Amino acid sequence: MKRVFSGVKPTGHLTLGNYLGAMRQWAAVDQHRADALFCVVDLHALTVDHDPARVRRLSRQAATLLLAAGLDPRLCTVFVQSHVDEHARLSYVLECVATDGEMRRMIQYKEKSVRERERGGSVRLSLLTYPVLMAADILAYGTDEVPVGEDQAQHVELARDLAARFNHRYGRTFVVPRTTVPKVAARVMNLQEPTSKMGKSDDSGPGIVYLLDEPDVIRKKVMRAVTDSGREVVYDPEARPGVANLLEILAACSGGDPADLSGAYASYGALKKDTAEAVVEVLRPVQERHRELCADPGHVEEVLRDGAERARAMARPTVDAAYRAIGLLPAVSGAEAVLNAAR
Ligand code: TRP
Repeated sequence: MKRVFSGVKPTGHLTLGNYLGAMRQWAAVDQHRADALFCVVDLHALTVDHDPARVRRLSRQAATLLLAAGLDPRLCTVFVQSHVDEHARLSYVLECVATDGEMRRMIQYKEKSVRERERGGSVRLSLLTYPVLMAADILAYGTDEVPVGEDQAQHVELARDLAARFNHRYGRTFVVPRTTVPKVAARVMNLQEPTSKMGKSDDSGPGIVYLLDEPDVIRKKVMRAVTDSGREVVYDPEARPGVANLLEILAACSGGDPADLSGAYASYGALKKDTAEAVVEVLRPVQERHRELCADPGHVEEVLRDGAERARAMARPTVDAAYRAIGLLPAVSGAEAVLNAAR
């Protein structure tokens, strides 16, 4: 069976974009067809200015929402990155394979470091090395496929490069993974700025539907979505990004094709109304399940404990093999030492 790995970063509340673009596919498709791991990548949340209590809260919430979205711990492994030491262990080794130039070429690093400096802040070293940690996340598990959005494709490409380079230099150790950008997944854009994606890290609330928004808040946000000049409802992502985004969201929530759906609407108002209701309905079961899970925090903790244990057992042999291959002296356990002495 194929090994699949993906992660969510607890830097903000999860959004409709995360759900329709990724989580829903993980639950409906990936966990059934593959040996899949889904990880709350909390170490990655420390690469920019952060509040410890908030990261902790968002990590627990992200894990709970992954389960609420339908990930089933009997089918896949759900865990928190920092609970498994192998990620950090492997990351260091991969830093010895990656180059400084390669890191500085990463688009996300360039964008985020510029933004950080513009705000007068300092850029954490971990922001530069973050793609190496992400490569470690992927390579530690012998991952074949990494289902992520397009914005992460360059990072998965780096993981491929590092795996191939390591294997070439030190002997075959890693599976060389590939990105799978899910065909059916929607690319949900910000309702107020339909040319940029509905990300969770930017805190501008009105254009972002959060998974835990109350139905009335969702309705308000969708009804206030910016539309384009013109009146007819046509699907044209280039010329009419606002309307196209609503059609995409509606199609993703209710089934169907955005271009076909456009024919059914005579006004933007009617389209917004149906889109709002479709979003409310799609999120209703997720929110219900989330409420149930919050009422039973012991269950979520148990899932995460069990997930970390399974993940550790999967990652350990690969990371140990990488340590040996690159020239680190194996640590001998007490029991082995006794056996060696008796030989
Ligand atoms: N960098 C990813 C993001 O920002 C999150 C992530 C970290 C990830 N490690 C990963 C995704 C490994 C897939 C596989 O969305």
